[in-house]
Amino acid sequence: MRLLRRSWAGLLYQRRHQHHRRFLVTTSGRSNGDREEQQHKWSSPGSRPEQMLYAAFWAGGLTLGFHWLTNRHHHVLLEEQKGPTEEEQEALARLWHVTLRKELPTYRADQVEPHNCPENRIWVTYGLGVYDVTDFAENHPGGDKILMAAGSAIDPFWAIYQQHNTLEVLELLEGFRIGNLEGELVTSVDDELGSPWSQEPQRHALLKPASKRPFNAEPPIGLLAEQFYTPNELFYVRNHLPVPVISPEDYELEIDGGGGGVGGKEQTLTLEGIKALPKHSVTAAIMCGGNRRSEMTKVKAVKGLSWGAGAVGNAKWSGARLCDVLKQQGVQPDEAKHVIFEGADLDPTSHPYGASIPLSKALDPRGDVILAYEMNDEPLSRDHGYPIRVIVPGTVGARNVKWLTRIVVADQESDSHWQQNDYKGFSPSTDWDTVDFGKSEAIQAMPVTSAICTPQPGSRVKVDDDEGHITVRGYAWSGGGRKIVRVDLTNDEGLSWHVAELEQEDIPDGRHYGWSLWTARLPISEAQRKAGDVEIWAKAVDSAYNVQPEKFEHIWNLRGVLANAYHKVKVKIV
Ligand code: MTE
Repeated sequence: MRLLRRSWAGLLYQRRHQHHRRFLVTTSGRSNGDREEQQHKWSSPGSRPEQMLYAAFWAGGLTLGFHWLTNRHHHVLLEEQKGPTEEEQEALARLWHVTLRKELPTYRADQVEPHNCPENRIWVTYGLGVYDVTDFAENHPGGDKILMAAGSAIDPFWAIYQQHNTLEVLELLEGFRIGNLEGELVTSVDDELGSPWSQEPQRHALLKPASKRPFNAEPPIGLLAEQFYTPNELFYVRNHLPVPVISPEDYELEIDGGGGGVGGKEQTLTLEGIKALPKHSVTAAIMCGGNRRSEMTKVKAVKGLSWGAGAVGNAKWSGARLCDVLKQQGVQPDEAKHVIFEGADLDPTSHPYGASIPLSKALDPRGDVILAYEMNDEPLSRDHGYPIRVIVPGTVGARNVKWLTRIVVADQESDSHWQQNDYKGFSPSTDWDTVDFGKSEAIQAMPVTSAICTPQPGSRVKVDDDEGHITVRGYAWSGGGRKIVRVDLTNDEGLSWHVAELEQEDIPDGRHYGWSLWTARLPISEAQRKAGDVEIWAKAVDSAYNVQPEKFEHIWNLRGVLANAYHKVKVKIV
């Protein structure tokens, strides 16, 4: 039996086997005697606490479900909220669940508990509020998950999924309020010993968080094109869950070659074992699928963290080649198969973060997929996947699984949420009421993109006195190993274009995974000097002559991924 010591969010636990997952629960419920002790307990699959933890999915699903319900319930709240500013509304919404609503009846926890199926109506509690969410359960595709949470508190799940605890969700939740919960408010899960967030790493002060828990942050865009290799401490961080604590001595990577037929045997590698394999280095940019989402959302709101153009970084990654490891295990090429990766970070249902790539990419020596333990010649930091992460060059960041604990060669893609129900593109006409994630391909190779790093939007730019130019710098990158062949810039809305100078590695096309930095000198006309305002546009072209689309309007998608339209920056000329 394999024992891997790891922590889910500061709670160290031992995961015995994929099929016998156990997890640690911080009991803070109000409904039973365990609560007074506020202790941590092992739960068996199928137990009440486990069921409660499934509510995390619900908490996430609320974002979608409440969106669906907006038309039906929102008006009630709007009527109540007429007048106050957005900030005031937010402040108010944040207090609703701790506010006793005297006009509503009071329920005890044991009265809430039986409301755990549609027949009895589905109730949940949050803070002092009791909510009837039956309609959500019946009409939302993921509504069955609510049944697992029904009759209990959602507080512990929102302690993990704080990104769902938004004004929009709170407003809608209050629309479902049917009563007050008798008794004291539960202690904030954050404050408890063993909070999932208690062992988060230190971060560089310059990383600008898009969300703090889980931690998601990008460096200031103005610094991004300063260095070809992004400094590790300024490399963007994208975490979906708390950062696990993994000790190097206990680390194990389980590899299941798929068994039988063309598959290989199973083996477990230690950190030392991985380091003993031939070391391979690759320069690769990693880019979040949601990079530049904040620009797309201006066309029409999308759901997701509001990333600027800094959810990308370029590094030299070193480690063992996955193709060597898999071949050594007897895994044979098969274009129909996939390689599934699992991380040590678990969601509250004890499912690990997971993603998959085609086996053909994993086995291709030119694919340069590595089990990385170094980033820019330093051991990986905890935020970037210590001790081992998979680097899948040219592929969307989501597939570069951090804190890697398990690799499986399989007939199907990963069944994880992040492979199946996220990181997929859709038509601009598809919205949350019509979306079917099952019908869209998971993003693998990323499209060509570029961004202007300096000057920054709104900045005052001095024109060179002798030549009347301004200098513009940025990055460009394309997925699938396609080299950037050109970056074009205009400051007169496309009447004239100026080709930038590229700084890039001398690596053959098809295997060109690093980004290209570029510099352009743009002439500023007398008229522009007088007008004072100039808009600069950048577009990159890759080796397949793919070029960025001009407008976000035509590539808008509900999750705000693949946001690669021309990058446009307005500056003041001085
Ligand atoms: N791996 C695990 N285990 N957990 C995660 O949350 N996030 C993914 C990927 N790998 C993630 C993960 C996403 S969406 C991205 S964009 C990249 O990691 C970000 O890598 P970075 O934080 O090292 O920049």
